Amino acid sequence: MRAIQIVEESGPDTALKIVELPDPEASHMLTPGAGVLVEVHAAGVSFPELLQTRGQYQLKPPLPFIPGSEVGGVVVSAPEGAVVKAGDRVAAFCALGGFAETAVAPEFFTFALPDELDYAQGAALILNYHTAYFALVLRGQLQRGESVLVHGAAGGVGTATIQVARGLGAKTVALVSSEHKGEVARQAGADEVVLAQEGWRERVKELTGGGVDVVVDPVGGDRFTDSLRSLRETGRVIVVGFTAGSIPEVKVNRLLLNNTEVIGAGWGAYAMAKPEYVRETSAALLDLIESGAIRPLVGERFKFGDAADALRALETRRATGKIVLDVKE
Ligand SMILES: NC(=O)c1ccc[n+]([C@@H]2O[C@H](COP(=O)([O-])OP(=O)(O)OC[C@H]3O[C@@H](n4cnc5c(N)ncnc54)[C@H](OP(=O)(O)O)[C@@H]3O)[C@@H](O)[C@H]2O)c1
Repeated sequence: MRAIQIVEESGPDTALKIVELPDPEASHMLTPGAGVLVEVHAAGVSFPELLQTRGQYQLKPPLPFIPGSEVGGVVVSAPEGAVVKAGDRVAAFCALGGFAETAVAPEFFTFALPDELDYAQGAALILNYHTAYFALVLRGQLQRGESVLVHGAAGGVGTATIQVARGLGAKTVALVSSEHKGEVARQAGADEVVLAQEGWRERVKELTGGGVDVVVDPVGGDRFTDSLRSLRETGRVIVVGFTAGSIPEVKVNRLLLNNTEVIGAGWGAYAMAKPEYVRETSAALLDLIESGAIRPLVGERFKFGDAADALRALETRRATGKIVLDVKE
């Protein structure tokens, strides 16, 4: 099979190499001795892959390795007792190995792809939507009727969070850096869009009648204090990532003054070892797909040979929705 390996940790321009390798065995590191083999049609491209080209991500396999955490494709083979079988269209989370013509995923991380979604949307489904659901429901305790402010709302996690929050009956406010990204957030279903410029916090307070209940923050950086200030009483800021580069610090007296919370949401570390939790989340997301609330927004699509350009789209902040590599054209 053709595959893309990270051969050195020198950044997206020079780290990647296309190689010819044997197909993987039907065994995944999370389920040794068992795994679903998937013929990959589309591979999702996300921040972890970008960070891995520099050796800056927590999952750090020895070089060389095939990056790519999730795919949309067709099952080649599945272990006995699996809910999917050869020939099924699936979305699969493989953690690594997705940038290849064949990938292997644990059975509990492989889901039949509803007819409404194509392979590229399948490759956009697991990482961002499971993260959004985990952040909002398990960590954020979101209640129907609450309001949610989403940072980086035109991005992968951002668009997913808007759709999941809306599907769960929340009002969503998207915070974005440009008008174009505002349109993308609206397309994702945001009720309100606010530009991340001077005065955004006051605008958010106006739109939500005095403050938001939940902030989902995959961006970090210097907006964090204003996120805290934009909360209403008992509001929660959910920390999801740091695309802005810097890790914010909190003066905890702020939390006491307004009875608010800062909550960490690290989906991978939580979900990897909990197959039942993953299945429950998938079932909840399937309901939201069926209700029409979830329709992953695929942004730019890249040819297999252009993976470095795909990673640069993330790095240069021009990506919207989910970036996808078309593996089988
Ligand atoms: N905690 C978890 O379990 C979990 C799971 C999945 C992903 N993540 C993390 O969540 C973060 C977002 O991932 P994503 O896939 O949504 O990324 P993305 O699609 O690239 O979106 C990130 C957004 O961050 C904003 N941003 C602000 N400063 C930026 C900068 N200097 N460079 C790039 N973007 C910048 C951009 O929005 P504006 O231009 O509108 O500001 C951009 O749309 C990543 O850090 C990822 O590792 C965490």
